Amino acid sequence: MSAKEVNELIRQAAEKAMRETDSEPEPGLTEEINWPIKVELHRGLAGAISNTTQIGYVNGAKGWLIYRGFNCFDLAEKSSYEETCHLLLHGRLPSSSELSIFNEQLKKYRRVPQPVLDVLRMIPTESSHPMSALATAVSMLGNLDANSEDISVENETEISLKLISQMATLAGAIGRIRQGKEPLTPNPELSHAANFFYMLSGTVPDEMNERIMDVSLILHADHGMNASTFTTMVVNSSLSDMYSSVVGGISSLKGPLHGGANQQVVLNLREIGSVENVDSWYQKKRAAKEKVMGFGHRVYKAYDPRARIFGPIAKLMAEKSAENKTIYEIAAKLEEVVVSELGQERKIFPNVDFYSGIIYKAMGIDTDMFTPIFAVSRIAGWTARALEYLADNRLFRPRAVYTGPIKIDYKPIEDR
Ligand code: ACO
Repeated sequence: MSAKEVNELIRQAAEKAMRETDSEPEPGLTEEINWPIKVELHRGLAGAISNTTQIGYVNGAKGWLIYRGFNCFDLAEKSSYEETCHLLLHGRLPSSSELSIFNEQLKKYRRVPQPVLDVLRMIPTESSHPMSALATAVSMLGNLDANSEDISVENETEISLKLISQMATLAGAIGRIRQGKEPLTPNPELSHAANFFYMLSGTVPDEMNERIMDVSLILHADHGMNASTFTTMVVNSSLSDMYSSVVGGISSLKGPLHGGANQQVVLNLREIGSVENVDSWYQKKRAAKEKVMGFGHRVYKAYDPRARIFGPIAKLMAEKSAENKTIYEIAAKLEEVVVSELGQERKIFPNVDFYSGIIYKAMGIDTDMFTPIFAVSRIAGWTARALEYLADNRLFRPRAVYTGPIKIDYKPIEDR
């Protein structure tokens, strides 16, 4: 299996997406905005518009994911995570000399200060979630950076580069410490994806695993005003600092309704155990009114384009072992069962988290490290959007509708 084969799968997924969504309505939410505007609001801020952006766009009806005008299928097939980060942060694809400077900057920052590794070693692995350890590590990086309080766009951009580079080092170190092993020193000869894979697993990936990790990092890099991106931007809008803002993003991503779902998906597939059990497991979930992890999305009401790419890659990876094959077959059956009931009518399809966990599992990555991989990628979108907003900042400060009593007379404690 080769990187070329992976690229061919992505191209086929793109063609399928075009065929299936051609007749969907034209995109919305792309017009110029004259504030203030009127929108229909729903619980969970559904329908709310927080700002304008040139960074990325998700069209839920058509299943489009676009970074600065480039569709995700093209980027996944042809680009690299480094190039994608340049695109998100600086607004355009780099020339080859710009890309080599950018790569050198990222490589220069890969090593993290020793006290951060010391703190990570003090965190008890039995009781702590790796995302909590990641938040602690980023907070510690901020405490060690004498320039962290300089919130100029220029300095925050430099910190963003540092964080894009170091998030991979930190996640790698956390994964190794959780296995009772020593963190590895970054390898400057490797690409961002290959170095991350190496730091996590201790093995330099072959061409195919490097390509798949790269595709995964590209596809998770940005995704509209999702909960963790919004959290990062809200923290940054108080003119806090980029480290604190990213700690907020990590904490939001941790939850099972957001980035924590891929871990849950693999646990569920293991619990189901065999293709024959899929139907009865699903019926039990429905009867208990529980959601099926890895399905549904606030914005996508068509098939998530990232799942279109990850599905065939998961199938390819499944060939590696009998256990992976079984897990994949259970997943494919579960997709069939869920989509046949909830697809057409409720517009519930697999999301990015449904197949990504299967891929990471086949790469030999521990289940509890799946969400940190998401953070290693999404740091690009968090920082790019926080920086864009910082350039014309206004504090985020919505209001809540108060539904309690308005006027109650205060009674002394002895009269209550
Ligand atoms: N399984 C079964 N039913 C579902 C699912 C699901 N996965 N997702 C939504 N529904 C149903 C809900 O039960 C609800 O039905 P009702 O109207 O009869 O009450 C309806 O669809 C709307 O669901 P909400 O939770 O209100 O939709 P919301 O837009 O708030 O949720 C979310 C989006 C959180 C992603 C939801 O689909 C979910 O919980 N999915 C499972 C968790 C998951 O996979 N998260 C990863 C999302 S992708 C990401 O963040 C990277």
